[in-house]
Amino acid sequence: MKKNILVYILIMILLITGIYIGTTKKDTKTKEIPTKKVETLIDKMKKIEYYNGKYKDRYKDYQKENQNLELEDIVTRVNLSLDKKPYEETKKTPYPNTDYILVNKHIYMGEDYIPEDLEELDTSYARSGMKLVKKAKKAVEQMAKQAKKEGFTIRVMSSFRDYQYQVNLYNRYKETDGEEKADTYSARPGFSEHQTGLCIDIDDGNLSYTNFEKSPSFNWMQENAHKYGFILRYPKDKTDITTYTYESWHYRYVGKEIASYIKEHNITFDEYYIQFIENKK
Ligand code: DAL
Ligand code: ZN
Repeated sequence: MKKNILVYILIMILLITGIYIGTTKKDTKTKEIPTKKVETLIDKMKKIEYYNGKYKDRYKDYQKENQNLELEDIVTRVNLSLDKKPYEETKKTPYPNTDYILVNKHIYMGEDYIPEDLEELDTSYARSGMKLVKKAKKAVEQMAKQAKKEGFTIRVMSSFRDYQYQVNLYNRYKETDGEEKADTYSARPGFSEHQTGLCIDIDDGNLSYTNFEKSPSFNWMQENAHKYGFILRYPKDKTDITTYTYESWHYRYVGKEIASYIKEHNITFDEYYIQFIENKK
């Protein structure tokens, strides 16, 4: 009898200790890293070319929350302000009227921005009234011609949009879906890449542009867009970096060299910008 009571007490102690450990155990993802180890990590980050001393504490915090990421990714993402909420920390682009201008939820162009050399696209491959920066226009023209030769259709459905156009568009989306949802697929005025005059939304002349992925023209673009300087700007597997839902129809002109690099290394333009453009051009 005495023995039974002892066994019972022992089981209870084990159970209570187990529950206590279970409830107090920290999430391994955010577990504390010893100070010395953090400093070693920072020392390693300092060797990364685009490390910015101003963001040291933010790198530390982001690393603590994202221990699965490489140090290069920590630095890149903090430099992109991805540790902040969308639109929380914003700055005006330092690179207006260039092929390598980056626009996202933290970098804007301003109300008055209209690119310098806009030209109207020919209606043989675009809806009427579409405009692009001259270089991008030439590139899309050649691309659409070559696609046609090979039996594929590429038709531009949206291109340059000025600030006011985006105000109306975004407000419409906001009224329909609410701000939070609208922000996942539409840029706020001043923050849309369409205001650069360097990007296009396309369809295949058959399906609606939102179904572009299902058309053979999409596969053609996957294989050939970079040869004309275009990239898929909001890919399916990079939504954590672009912060926009996947857009199979939206292509950005960055020039052949940058487009080829981005394709070969399977990165976003945001990452390319931090690693090769910001503070270098
Ligand atoms: N749909 C893209 C993100 C834009 O509104 O510019
Ligand atoms: Zn678009």
